[in-house]
Amino acid sequence: MDAFTFHNPTKLIFGKDQLNQLPSQLPAGTKKVLVVYGGGSIKKNGLYDQVMGQLNEAGVDIQELSGVEPNPKLTTVEKGVKICKEDNIDFLLAVGGGSVIDCTKTIAAGAKYDGAPWDLVTREAKPESALPFGTVLTLAATGSEMNAGAVITNWETNEKYGWGAAPLTNPTFSILDPAYTVSVPRDQTIYGIVDMMTHMFEQYFHNPTQSPVQDEMVEGVLRAVMETAPKLLEDLESLEHRETILYAGTVALNGMLQMGYRGDWASHNIEHAVSAVYDIPHAGGLAILFPNWMKHNLEVNEERFARLATKVFGVNPDGKGDKEVAEEGIKALRAFWSSIGAPETLADYDIGDDKFDIIVDRAMKRGPFGNFNQLHEQDVQKILEMSK
Ligand code: NZQ
Ligand code: ZN
Repeated sequence: MDAFTFHNPTKLIFGKDQLNQLPSQLPAGTKKVLVVYGGGSIKKNGLYDQVMGQLNEAGVDIQELSGVEPNPKLTTVEKGVKICKEDNIDFLLAVGGGSVIDCTKTIAAGAKYDGAPWDLVTREAKPESALPFGTVLTLAATGSEMNAGAVITNWETNEKYGWGAAPLTNPTFSILDPAYTVSVPRDQTIYGIVDMMTHMFEQYFHNPTQSPVQDEMVEGVLRAVMETAPKLLEDLESLEHRETILYAGTVALNGMLQMGYRGDWASHNIEHAVSAVYDIPHAGGLAILFPNWMKHNLEVNEERFARLATKVFGVNPDGKGDKEVAEEGIKALRAFWSSIGAPETLADYDIGDDKFDIIVDRAMKRGPFGNFNQLHEQDVQKILEMSK
């Protein structure tokens, strides 16, 4: 293992009716809260009224920023920063999925930074402070509720980047009640499952591989997600299955599974480049790209892929070599994602190869990438070709 320090400052508040804790979680002296939310799902499912009720009980002034887009835009971040600076906001509350939370993180840092928020996203500047913020999560997927990362898209330049500055961009607290995720539609539920699974795969493929405890943990969470996913999709209103998936999404990317090594993260980088050019759901892109990343990198460490195949996908290794087992594992993953309704090829989103050069350019913007296997321009091109 590499040496590491683990410190996750986010207070995780999980379970039924835990929104009641909201007033007591606001930092002492909070006067003005900016509530950030998306396109209206929280108004439809009643969460908006409940949050406002709790904030009124806390006796704070409330401002709102609504309309945060899936794949949140820089222009919305800029709107939020302006409100914070003009209206003396002292706390932000994100109520929504990963997009709302990521937007809020970037607003929180942008509010305390004199330059353009895009400087923070491109990492040209490092924030020295940020407004504190909390979250009420409504969608199990990204893990953003308990990590420092944020992903923002600049539509003027077709660039989408992840950034973060722990602990400034870690939520102070996150409230997760499975009941608020029951209204998540089928397609977003599927995307969430694919996203959290891919987060675990990205971490599983790392160097060096002296990590038996972490490996068993990742394999165990993956098996639980794969067991639960079809049951949840049979019964989207099941609180029990919503709860399992909600918890798994947080654990998958709150740092617990990634101690002592760096995950690969190449597929995420390529996907962000795809959705910077075509505004497709993040995990839709991952479902297409990740199995092809696996095929492309199989020879880097066949044993690793074979282990995943046997321990997570139930491939029987008897009498077979690592390569054969590994290939069966990749097929099993593709089949599993197809069985739950995830997309398989870029053509499923009507994406052809005419803009592959732009996607490759955006993916390579920060140089070669991938910690399990470093990818260069020709690798990205190849993975895109395999994904057509
Ligand atoms: O906008 P509203 O009306 O709220 O609707 C949203 C949105 O249309 C809807 N939704 C959310 N909760 C709902 C609900 N609909 C009904 N009932 C509910 N309870 O779902 C749609 C998608 O929401 P979004 O927040 O975009 O989804 P997700 O959580 O998957 O976030 C995706 C974004 O996160 C980034 C992605 O790149 C993408 O921009 N990521 C962030 C990461 C992080 N910060 O750690 C890591 C990830 O790998 C990812 O890259
Ligand atoms: Zn992701």
